[in-house]
Amino acid sequence: MNPKTPKESAVEMTEMVLPNDTNYLGNLLGGRLMHWIDIAAALAAMKHSGRVCVTASVDEINFFEPIKLSHVVKLYASVNRAFKTSMEIGVKVFREDPLNGTIAHTSTAYLTFVAIDQYGKPLPVPQLIPVTDDEKRRYDEALFRRDQRLKNRELKKQAEEKKEEKK
Ligand SMILES: CC(C)(COP(=O)(O)OP(=O)(O)OC[C@H]1O[C@@H](n2cnc3c(N)ncnc32)[C@H](O)[C@@H]1OP(=O)(O)O)[C@@H](O)C(=O)NCCC(=O)NCCS
Repeated sequence: MNPKTPKESAVEMTEMVLPNDTNYLGNLLGGRLMHWIDIAAALAAMKHSGRVCVTASVDEINFFEPIKLSHVVKLYASVNRAFKTSMEIGVKVFREDPLNGTIAHTSTAYLTFVAIDQYGKPLPVPQLIPVTDDEKRRYDEALFRRDQRLKNRELKKQAEEKKEEKK
């Protein structure tokens, strides 16, 4: 498998906030934004790996600013790092007011996707070659986040095992 650069699988997605996407205050629902984040990240993972990919985990997502009815939402997704069968995808979200052109960064999310075969078995993915300084920084940071995720996963597993023993 030939290594790929982040640019080769980068995704730019544009959505407009419609009434059905909002709460009573006219703000975009967090769940709708998470759905768009998941879609943008899934597309980047599938472009990088050339495989069907599933979401394995989503790190904590913060919403820095509200996004309002009629705003445009721009999502930029790219692969930060590829491991054996998994990839960390970073998604940056911006809101844009189409009437005055103001733009604000509203969220950043990190998701882990795994490439799978038709039986759901994980498959190897091509390695990622970061090129720009930003890509290299994200590549380095992704390793730290992966270690944290795997540690959390192990702790949860141990807690579940203890619960089972008590039953
Ligand atoms: C994700 C999934 C394929 C992993 O399968 P698994 O049998 O646990 O596989 P493994 O333990 O061998 O892990 C495979 C890879 O996934 C990674 N992974 C598994 N769970 C993870 C988690 N919670 N967070 C981050 N990475 C995870 C592993 O680190 C490993 O990565 P690597 O090969 O790059 O080192 C499996 O758990 C699954 O199908 N989950 C449901 C996915 C889904 O349906 N998502 C949609 C939301 S409902």
